[in-house]
Amino acid sequence: MEFKEFIIRSYEGQSDRAQVEDLERRCKVGPSETMLDSMGDPISRIRNSPMYIMLVAEMDNELVGFIQGSIKVVTLECHPPKGIAKVGYVLGLRVAPQTRRKGIGSSLIQRLEEWFNSNDVDYAYVATEKENHASISLFMNKFGYTKFRTPAILVNPVNNHHSFRISSNIDIAKVNIDKAESLYRRFMGTTEFFPSDIQNVLRNKLSLGTWVATFKWENASFGLNGPNIGQVPKSWAMLSVWKSGDIFKLSIGRAPNSCLFFTKTWSLVDKIFPCFGLSTIPDFFSPFGFYFIYGVYHEGPCSGKLVRALCKFVHNMISKSKDENCNKIIVAEVGGRDEELNNHIPHWKLFSCPDLWCIKALKSEGKNTFHELVTDTQPRSLFVDPREV
Ligand SMILES: CC(C)(COP(=O)(O)OP(=O)(O)OC[C@H]1O[C@@H](n2cnc3c(N)ncnc32)[C@H](O)[C@@H]1OP(=O)(O)O)[C@@H](O)C(=O)NCCC(=O)NCCS
Repeated sequence: MEFKEFIIRSYEGQSDRAQVEDLERRCKVGPSETMLDSMGDPISRIRNSPMYIMLVAEMDNELVGFIQGSIKVVTLECHPPKGIAKVGYVLGLRVAPQTRRKGIGSSLIQRLEEWFNSNDVDYAYVATEKENHASISLFMNKFGYTKFRTPAILVNPVNNHHSFRISSNIDIAKVNIDKAESLYRRFMGTTEFFPSDIQNVLRNKLSLGTWVATFKWENASFGLNGPNIGQVPKSWAMLSVWKSGDIFKLSIGRAPNSCLFFTKTWSLVDKIFPCFGLSTIPDFFSPFGFYFIYGVYHEGPCSGKLVRALCKFVHNMISKSKDENCNKIIVAEVGGRDEELNNHIPHWKLFSCPDLWCIKALKSEGKNTFHELVTDTQPRSLFVDPREV
């Protein structure tokens, strides 16, 4: 095919929306052939970030690619002098199948990095599927990104027929947003990638709330909704819930054979023995939305149990909700030192997978921090921002 020139320009909502949505439908991502439906608003995934941009590639008046980026300030303890850094997140890179391997993806990344540089960004980072060779080769081999973290994505279908019993020894309470902000700043403020604008995350309409669990016998006077944090119990846990299904839906094009076999067998058992009350396996091949558990924190000798109780509580809350806009799926992402949370957050191994985060220092003075980040054998806990899921 003859090579044609293309231009890179900013996305214009009114005139580009339909073409972007069409291109999104034609681009399957990674071996699972995941597709994203942005439900009429292609910038819905970035518009909740402090700064964002979407660039498109145009060839002969036709859109042949696009990319999105967002900027925020986060905690990076090893970044001098204050342990905070400006980071740029790269997401939603798509190039039309018939125009691939012509440098369009590279030009989009280059222009996005220029925007990051003009806004004084210290590090750019991207999350991709571990098996997405095109994306990994593009970011790592061509643009010099380095593997940084591999948090686990934990997926748990909600069972509409079943409510989990929560121990009567455990108290679960919803905290107001001001209290949630103080708790997060005090206990997770030094977590890697903790966003300095956490108040915007918690106040966003997609954030359904923050819940804290404690043991009754500790009689904790946490002062949950007063101005002060009060006395902190020996063991406690908290988490928040974000409703991603209101802004985008995903669908999977191809599932591993093991997964198909399991799904068929499960449905058959459910049909023959409805009395078992098995979870309905969501149809991952049709567009589905999900609820995202974020900001999971726990401390104290028995706090794993409290995390589990909070997850059961979230499950029960979602199973009762009448909302049709979201399939009943709960997703969490945990990494770094928090990986042991896998043992406490209920999930189906078959549907869960690792994510690959890659990072690049954009300024020469950030190289030392960068080296420390990518060679750290005992990484800190990682805050996965629900705006970037
Ligand atoms: C990944 C993607 C954006 C690449 O776009 P592109 O315009 O083809 O990329 P470029 O032409 O700029 O490729 C630059 C380099 O990336 C690497 N690369 C790109 N596609 C590749 C592939 N399929 N396999 C291996 N390496 C690949 C190569 O090193 C290539 O250089 P080369 O062509 O000189 O060998 C495109 O394949 C795509 O849209 N895929 C589906 C969506 C997706 O996976 N997005 C990434 C999500 S993070």
